[in-house]
Amino acid sequence: MRTILAGNWKMHTDRAGAVALARAVAIAERAAGVEVLVAPPFPFLEAVVAACSDSAVRVAAQTCHAEAQGAYTGEVSVPMLQSIGVQACIVGHSERRRYDGENDARVAYKVKALLSAGMTAIYCCGEELSEREAGRHHVVVGEQLATALKGLPAEQLGGLVVAYEPVWAIGTGRTATPEQAQEMHGFIREQLVRLLGPAAEPVPVLYGGSCKPDNAAELFALPDVSGGLIGGASLDAGQFLELVRIAARCVAERRGV
Ligand code: 13P
Repeated sequence: MRTILAGNWKMHTDRAGAVALARAVAIAERAAGVEVLVAPPFPFLEAVVAACSDSAVRVAAQTCHAEAQGAYTGEVSVPMLQSIGVQACIVGHSERRRYDGENDARVAYKVKALLSAGMTAIYCCGEELSEREAGRHHVVVGEQLATALKGLPAEQLGGLVVAYEPVWAIGTGRTATPEQAQEMHGFIREQLVRLLGPAAEPVPVLYGGSCKPDNAAELFALPDVSGGLIGGASLDAGQFLELVRIAARCVAERRGV
């Protein structure tokens, strides 16, 4: 199983801060078996790509448009991102669903555009607290996955990463319990294979939502958790690198090293 640690910086940092943070992550000793990504705001992408160019750290955007070009004021396309060395993109984040009207029908086009271009798509799904309390979390996440991902060709699935981010855990300090996380990650894996066939078995499923060094070890050790999509703790190089080390320890334990 691939293990990935991705830092979503959201609308934080300035140019100098972004470069300094990226540099601190890039020069850290490589953690064996862990793929590391950072997702700065659009204006700092190119500088962060440069700051990471001598390292294995890959740079992701936080959203994109599905069309390659056109009259879409304010939008940024996949070829534009690729032209500056961005290799991945987060899509369907709950904050974009909430504040920007993003929905799975639109996200489906974005995922297709990214995968067809050979980029990595980090697709976010997750239920609201009211939906979990009503016992609807499986229905909600199942529908999200079906709408956004159905029909993707098997040969492009190497570029797909799914992040389960329960909305009630994002930035709240409230994490899913290991039982809740494992149960949902297992469900997501089943749905991926049901929707996309056996080629979806290796698709990484990351956990996101108040993941910090003091709760990461038990989450990353879960059998169906492939690492994390980290918000707040990714803005502090020390905390983010500690999370990378924790993920690397889980990889080593899985391999029986
Ligand atoms: P926090 O880690 O700040 O809860 O954010 C999670 C997230 O939304 C990452 O995309």
